[in-house]
Amino acid sequence: MGTTLLPVPNTPLVRVLLVGANGHARVCLEALLDDPRHVVVGAISSDGTGIEGLGVPMLGHDRNLAALARDHAIDRVFVAIGDNAARSDVTRRVEGEGFTLGTAISRFAMVSHTATTHDGSALLPGAVVNAATVIGGGAIVNTNASVDHDCAIGEFVHIAPGASIAGGVTVGAGALIGIGARVLPNLTIGAGAVVGAGAVVVSDVAAGSTVWGAPAKVREAS
Ligand SMILES: CC(C)(COP(=O)(O)OP(=O)(O)OC[C@H]1O[C@@H](n2cnc3c(N)ncnc32)[C@H](O)[C@@H]1OP(=O)(O)O)[C@@H](O)C(=O)NCCC(=O)NCCS
Repeated sequence: MGTTLLPVPNTPLVRVLLVGANGHARVCLEALLDDPRHVVVGAISSDGTGIEGLGVPMLGHDRNLAALARDHAIDRVFVAIGDNAARSDVTRRVEGEGFTLGTAISRFAMVSHTATTHDGSALLPGAVVNAATVIGGGAIVNTNASVDHDCAIGEFVHIAPGASIAGGVTVGAGALIGIGARVLPNLTIGAGAVVGAGAVVVSDVAAGSTVWGAPAKVREAS
């Protein structure tokens, strides 16, 4: 039997501006470009500079958003800043100026069809987001990090490379789960908490506290 070639749907292109221009931004840029609808027109940063070889032109400071939107016909803005507090501040400003946020999902991320991802989030290569999990706006699920089923990941959370979050875990807004950390099932990590690299979290973590070690214990961050 012959093969029938279906016409490619005529999807409109989405012109995206990248805010942030360091190594994390480059990873996000590659993930943005995995979506064939995305055209990344350029990047801006707080001082107008970016790393060498970023791959898109530097268009100036992040104070010039309105003019840039006009000159470059921007549809969406993607905030590619790794630090949670800075990403949250810049995102609020971008939204306040009336822009819609983009979302960066690597073609190498595996996202359940029953998961929900909110605008501004980044799911980077090797990230796994399993069934019925919700990824909040502006959250990062970084390289090879996994978030299993029925988790609630808050806004501007960063799940760092290689971290594993078991099923049923809640992570409050702005928390950092460090590189390679593991969080056991059904626990709650409070807003703004920091889980150190390599930690094994076996009990709930209070908002704003820092824990590390195996089993993870509350410590005074320096
Ligand atoms: C937990 C963390 C926040 C602590 O930072 P800090 O308060 O600056 O800690 P310090 O570097 O001053 O270290 C204090 C002590 O704790 C130890 N320590 C720090 N982090 C540790 C960790 N994750 N696991 C075990 N021990 C740790 C240090 O070796 C040091 O020990 P010492 O007093 O015997 O010398 C930090 O080390 C960390 O793990 N951050 C996560 C980083 C990350 O994954 N970022 C994502 C990037 S994509």
